[in-house]
Amino acid sequence: MSNTFYTLNVKDVTKVTADTVTISFDLTADQKSNFNFIPGQYLTLKMTIGGEEVRRSYSICTAPYEADLAVAVKEIENGLFSGFANNTLKAGDQLEAMAPMGNFKITPNADNSKNYIFYAAGSGITPVISMVKSILREEPSSNVQLYYGNKNSDATIFKSQLDELNSEYINLNLTYIYSQQDTGNDLTNGRISASKCEGFFDKSQGNITIDGVYACGPEEMIMCVKDFYTAKGLAKDKIHFELFTASAPAKPAAQEGSSTPVQSQVTVIIDDEEYEFSLNTEGKDILQAAQDEDADVPFSCKGGVCCTCRAKVMEGTVKMDLNFALEEDEVADGFILTCQAHPTSEKVVISYDEY
Ligand code: FES
Repeated sequence: MSNTFYTLNVKDVTKVTADTVTISFDLTADQKSNFNFIPGQYLTLKMTIGGEEVRRSYSICTAPYEADLAVAVKEIENGLFSGFANNTLKAGDQLEAMAPMGNFKITPNADNSKNYIFYAAGSGITPVISMVKSILREEPSSNVQLYYGNKNSDATIFKSQLDELNSEYINLNLTYIYSQQDTGNDLTNGRISASKCEGFFDKSQGNITIDGVYACGPEEMIMCVKDFYTAKGLAKDKIHFELFTASAPAKPAAQEGSSTPVQSQVTVIIDDEEYEFSLNTEGKDILQAAQDEDADVPFSCKGGVCCTCRAKVMEGTVKMDLNFALEEDEVADGFILTCQAHPTSEKVVISYDEY
């Protein structure tokens, strides 16, 4: 995975709720080919704010068939980039962006006749709306149920766009769940929880074959959706999720070698260049160690959530502190999050050039 950033011109910054904006970009003809994306993927943006380089990943909220490439940014407390995007950024400014990436995605196929269930909370709607729009447009025989939780109607990102989709497409079943606004229905009052999943399942899913469940939002919601559909017997590979915030380890560490700390000779390969250094299991993570060697390695969240720092173990073993982003089959294939990885064998070779 290369660390190439492209300079994009900001076409527009539009308020969609009191604390959320969409940022659309004007792409040059050359940039367009680099920014093709699959619905659900994200952009890693970079800029210097107050002398500090800030990188953040934001999901693309438009669909590939739409004219604009755009992301949505919700302002969070003390959020350097999100505050800047919501209060200062304007049309005509420039932002640095990496090409789209991410595993939480759907490739629509006109021949599909599937039943999709989506859960989103707050800004978790961002990748979901791109996926939903794409399915509705490109899979006329598929059905989509979308359960979207917010504090209230005013805080609901893309509400008018979602309402329009709901009017236009008979195969979309849209349900809002509000935690601070009375909907007049117990099932849609409160937060998305296991009991709510049970209620939605009994009402609309008991008689259908579920082909995929997709959840995006905070960890608590993701886990209750995941646990509920797992208990219902849905196969693991049909349950997909993307965390927007993480609070605790979610997936086990991978490729563990000896539990005894070792002093390892690590080789990092990126863009065909090799960087070698010595690193202890209990020392810094491989991403940081590589950066200290001036390797221009890709990263964004540094928290095991975004997947930008993904690389492959070509030789040796490593362990990860956290993994909220890689699928089990990727881990089995040797992929790691380098921001969470530590060597556990005396020789380790990591490549960012493998996909
Ligand atoms: S930088 Fe986001 S998972 Fe490593």
